[in-house]
Amino acid sequence: MKTIGIIGGGQLGRMACLAAHQLGFRSVIFTDQKNSPASFVTDAVIVADYSDQKALKEFCKIVDVVSFEFENIPFETASFVASCVDFHPRAEILKITQNRILEKNFLNEIGVTTTEYVTSNFEENLKEFGKAILKTATMGYDGKGQRILQVSDTLVSDTFSTEMILEKFCPFDSEISVMVARSKAGEIKAYEPLTNIHKNGILDESHYPAKISEGLKIKAQELAKKIAEKLDLVGILAVEMFVIGEEILVNELAPRPHNSGHFSMDACVTSQFEQLIRAITGLPLGSTEFHSKGYMKNLIGDDVKNIEKFFQNPRAKIHLYGKAEAKPGRKMGHVNIFE
Ligand SMILES: Nc1ncnc2c1ncn2[C@@H]1O[C@H](COP(=O)(O)OP(=O)(O)O)[C@@H](O)[C@H]1O
Ligand SMILES: [Mg+2]
Repeated sequence: MKTIGIIGGGQLGRMACLAAHQLGFRSVIFTDQKNSPASFVTDAVIVADYSDQKALKEFCKIVDVVSFEFENIPFETASFVASCVDFHPRAEILKITQNRILEKNFLNEIGVTTTEYVTSNFEENLKEFGKAILKTATMGYDGKGQRILQVSDTLVSDTFSTEMILEKFCPFDSEISVMVARSKAGEIKAYEPLTNIHKNGILDESHYPAKISEGLKIKAQELAKKIAEKLDLVGILAVEMFVIGEEILVNELAPRPHNSGHFSMDACVTSQFEQLIRAITGLPLGSTEFHSKGYMKNLIGDDVKNIEKFFQNPRAKIHLYGKAEAKPGRKMGHVNIFE
């Protein structure tokens, strides 16, 4: 029997542990937080700082393969664990996807189109772009660390305390994402895209089927597969995309299960979490086929107080993350609602 180690104890780690147990594996979580959502559903938890090498060594001793559930674990932590034990996706992928500049450079190098972006001369370039978004290069998530700028805005200075990127504003028709998995044997499977709707920079709903042409659906899956191949991915990757007419621009990558993939838990033959476990343990991948239509709705902050409404709907599948307090912007759970 294999033991799967997961770095990070959030809801993505929690749902990965549940999928691991369903396949007969054991799980161990390494997190710097007490009472994390994953800690309640796993065989063991190590709570320590991500830089604590002694604790990391203990972790490596008791697991057979390690993955991670969020990108912002220090790269040094990932490469240290990778030097001790089987680690997927490989640490170099984490390095690229932790930094929006490295990520966009990588995508453009492999011939994948992104929004136009610059990393210096922001004032001049804002005039060129017209409307733009200024983002921190690292550590941003759920729209945090971003500011929309109009051409008339004046930037106080081009010097910021952290590395920044200025992206041209993309007047997209819609946002979609594709989950793609690649196994140790190099088998690769992409899920069909979903249409994503954001509220205040946070994902609110993901709809299946996506509201785009059949041709675009195939194009989006082919793009995601190409990116996974070029990254030499083992595991699962989310590819966020902007759709403009029949064009696709890639917005962002996440080499882990993703919020926009949660509908797969109830609507697909194989959920994104089971697929991750299969990919990293050397099993064949499962079918990515959707057997049901509908949408995923996030329960953010006080949304969870309306949970009764969803329990009244017999076609709603409810997933709660076991978080004690509903703070604004905090993801408390999600509901998958069948059409
Ligand atoms: N260049 C852009 N043009 C238009 N909208 C954007 C652009 N970049 C980001 N957004 C909007 O902001 C959301 C969050 O940005 P994203 O780059 O995905 O960062 P995060 O890491 O916070 O998810 C996107 O899903 C999209 O709705
Ligand atoms: Mg995003």
